[in-house]
Amino acid sequence: MKFSARTVRTSRYPVLIGEGALEHLQKELKGFWKMKSQILILTDANTRRFCLPELLNRLPLLEEATVLSVDAGEEKKSLLIAEYLWKELGSHHADRASLLINLGGGMVTDLGGFVASAYHRGISTIHLPTTLIGQIDAAIGGKTGVNINSLKNQVGTFYSPHGVYVWPGFLITLPMAQVRSGLAEVAKAALIQDEQFWRWLTRKPLLQILEIPFTEPFWKEVLLRSIRIKMDIVKQDPFERNRRKLLNFGHTIGHAIESFSLRRETLVLHGDAVAAGMLCEGFLSLHKTALDPLQLEEMIRWILPGFGKFPLLEENGAAYLDLMQHDKKNRQQEIRFTLLSGIGKGKINQACTPGQIHEALSAYDTL
Ligand SMILES: NC(=O)c1ccc[n+]([C@@H]2O[C@H](COP(=O)([O-])OP(=O)(O)OC[C@H]3O[C@@H](n4cnc5c(N)ncnc54)[C@H](O)[C@@H]3O)[C@@H](O)[C@H]2O)c1
Repeated sequence: MKFSARTVRTSRYPVLIGEGALEHLQKELKGFWKMKSQILILTDANTRRFCLPELLNRLPLLEEATVLSVDAGEEKKSLLIAEYLWKELGSHHADRASLLINLGGGMVTDLGGFVASAYHRGISTIHLPTTLIGQIDAAIGGKTGVNINSLKNQVGTFYSPHGVYVWPGFLITLPMAQVRSGLAEVAKAALIQDEQFWRWLTRKPLLQILEIPFTEPFWKEVLLRSIRIKMDIVKQDPFERNRRKLLNFGHTIGHAIESFSLRRETLVLHGDAVAAGMLCEGFLSLHKTALDPLQLEEMIRWILPGFGKFPLLEENGAAYLDLMQHDKKNRQQEIRFTLLSGIGKGKINQACTPGQIHEALSAYDTL
């Protein structure tokens, strides 16, 4: 995938995307070195192994940086780990002028962004996303957070990074299951806002897309189009008062599935949970926002063969409903969803009753 860096600017910070992104980062870092700021890099065990050597190889300036590492996995996005990192920053004498670079997927950028936002009331932070979800979604938009009691993102901040550098080369070592998980967020971006992107994406079955090497121009298109959608929405509504809620399509039920799995042995990947959430919320959309059943069928045909199915009601429907009650979009005890009135047309603030949700989970179960 050859494309030199393109800059997309939010009102507050640049997002650089492409082969040249790391060169731009190098220039930016020189400013921090000049100011004698301390630079720290946060990784998880996998990004330390797969991405850090590549980063140091390309940006030898960073060899002097202090590396902080945590184990990989969603359960590490916790207050306990955040506290551990604050203590680590303290023991390395990080001060207000320090810079924390988050090298990793959404877990690392959410956690590192949160840690940076609160340490000494906020230090500079840069996101270097290394997963598909991180590159098209999690690292962009300034949301940080940790899970509490296995409930997703219960504590967090809106905190703008100094910059986001999307270097597609990191994706090469990403396991296929993680690529698939990222494709759920790609599909979501298309479904809420860009029908033409959905048509383009779904010309190929999902399983076939998973075989396309990251060096192919296909992925450049996926990255640019998905990032544009996210940036466009976030620019209009940075603090999620209205339009940004569009990005939650599939996530009310998806987060309940993910949270439920955090309490069990077998962890469900974020994107896999969102894929199931999008189908369930597709069923809700039939009744609440008049989604055409043929369009829902189209979604099912593309999503289901790639992601498979979780037995939802069969497992524990009541627990999912209970988890949805904690969703941050809810108001006055109503469970609120972002639904679709058509492909490419998200609709926010759709209140659904427990009965309607139960029906949607049951329709999904019978697929
Ligand atoms: N802040 C936001 O706006 C936002 C948006 C979407 C998702 N999220 C959050 O993002 C998280 C999910 O993101 P994710 O899927 O990137 O999770 P993740 O960070 O846990 O990464 C998934 C796995 O891939 C490994 N990995 C990362 N980069 C790799 C690489 N280049 N090569 C090999 N392995 C690599 C990680 O170690 C981990 O095991 C969730 O916590 C979700 O809530 C946040």
